[in-house]
Amino acid sequence: MDIAFLLNGESVALTGVAPTATLLDWLRETRGLTGTKEACREGDCGACTVMVTDAEGSRALNACILFLPQIHGKAIRTVEGLAAPDGRLHPVQQALIDHHASQCGFCTPGFAVSMATAQQTGDTDLEAALAGNLCRCTGYAPILRAAEAARDAPVPDWMEEDANFFLAEIPSGGADPQDRRGADSPPAFRPATADALAAWYETHPDATLIAGATDIGLWVTKGLQDLGQVAFLSGCEDLTRIEITETEIRLGAGVTIARLREMMRAQHPHFARMLTRFGSAQVRAAATLGGNIANGSPIGDSPPALIALGATLHLRQGARRRSLPLEDFFLDYRKQDRAPGEFVEAVTIPRQPDDLRCYKLSKRRDQDISAVLGCFNLTVRSGRVETARIAFGGMAGIPKRARAVEAALTGQPFAQATIKAALPAFASDFQPMSDMRASAGYRLRAAENMLWRLWHESRNDPADIDELAP
Ligand SMILES: Cc1cc2nc3c(=O)[nH]c(=O)nc-3n(C[C@H](O)[C@H](O)[C@H](O)COP(=O)(O)OP(=O)(O)OC[C@H]3O[C@@H](n4cnc5c(N)ncnc54)[C@H](O)[C@@H]3O)c2cc1C
Ligand code: FES
Ligand code: FES
Repeated sequence: MDIAFLLNGESVALTGVAPTATLLDWLRETRGLTGTKEACREGDCGACTVMVTDAEGSRALNACILFLPQIHGKAIRTVEGLAAPDGRLHPVQQALIDHHASQCGFCTPGFAVSMATAQQTGDTDLEAALAGNLCRCTGYAPILRAAEAARDAPVPDWMEEDANFFLAEIPSGGADPQDRRGADSPPAFRPATADALAAWYETHPDATLIAGATDIGLWVTKGLQDLGQVAFLSGCEDLTRIEITETEIRLGAGVTIARLREMMRAQHPHFARMLTRFGSAQVRAAATLGGNIANGSPIGDSPPALIALGATLHLRQGARRRSLPLEDFFLDYRKQDRAPGEFVEAVTIPRQPDDLRCYKLSKRRDQDISAVLGCFNLTVRSGRVETARIAFGGMAGIPKRARAVEAALTGQPFAQATIKAALPAFASDFQPMSDMRASAGYRLRAAENMLWRLWHESRNDPADIDELAP
């Protein structure tokens, strides 16, 4: 596969790239850029963070689960590219020194790149920006102080060139003489439109579709799987569209969780807030909505919220399209209503007044997979529950509606007695499993307590767990 990109201000063109070679391996093994560290190799620690810039702007991504074809046409900055060519430090590097924010230096490169990205994009929510970077020794206070100190410094002029970069400026061709890993790989497909993807996938139904690779990356780095033939969806610009009309919100399958979160701030702010705890900034910037649905995970964070909002899923196979309520897509554990050669094209959500409440329970506040995720969409008029759509993740083998709980609430006064009377319905809706995240009993109790929390929030009782955080 042929790709071209800008690396620390230098044009790079590669031919014969193995489709599932990671950027991290290439940087370290082929380029000798070992400042980008390898630690967890599964997107969890941020030691491998690089800055990626394209027409959409700059974002921090984990190079360990980023395949080389995904960076085609983009500008990459590693920690080696933060300082000026003449050695002047980037403001975030100086701040890390000034605030004694580094000890072993293993996590520091990733922090520096995340901090530089936040500084470049004007992101002031530094805790969220750095939540995907793990420091094993210094502690976060000096690091956050350094990030704050660097926040208002001007973006260094040598970083500006990435934003002005266009693929056309890169010379094509020119194999990297040291990289022979792509030689035996099956050809990978990189469509530019959903039409091209549809035509190709229909005739290659066994191929693996790669969107953000935040799941698939681990199949390769941890599962050591050979993916066979693959298609990269990131070039399909039409799959990344968000369209808001008077009646619906249409989200292309390629919309990232970061963009979904940004858009939801205005539409359904509780959903946006929950998404702040979806992975990390690096994961959200890569992960797509389509991947979060198509992977069929019972603990994916977006499906319960979308189901509670009454979302419709749009599937496509060749020229044929079909639509179904999102909850009907999930048939059984890891089994979805999706035919070979069929892919997720979009999701639509009816426009509605915002009544959505989303509660994510996980062992850590940041960067953790849900043990239980409850999403409640209740309409209360004149003190009565007029409609109720409730969906949970982590309570069954699939994301699932709490239909018995909905029935117990609908038409009833929105009162403490109604909540209490509805609690036994959770046990008829769900028989959760016990696993390393939570026991079945704990899950059931947590789900019930989320309904209580909804009730208390509606009365403005203090029920915000973030208030307990330091
Ligand atoms: C460190 C880390 C933290 C995470 N935290 C969370 C979290 O808090 N909450 C959460 O829900 N998830 C989390 N995840 C999981 C992952 O980020 C999400 O599931 C993500 O949405 C997957 O999207 P993707 O674009 O990366 O999918 P990919 O990895 O590219 O693909 C995932 C699956 O979906 C298929 N696919 C992708 N797009 C389509 C399409 N359009 N049509 C048909 N099939 C398609 C792929 O073939 C593959 O089977 C985390 C992952 C990591 C590595
Ligand atoms: S090595 Fe830990 S996130 Fe990449
Ligand atoms: S400085 Fe080494 S783990 Fe943070």
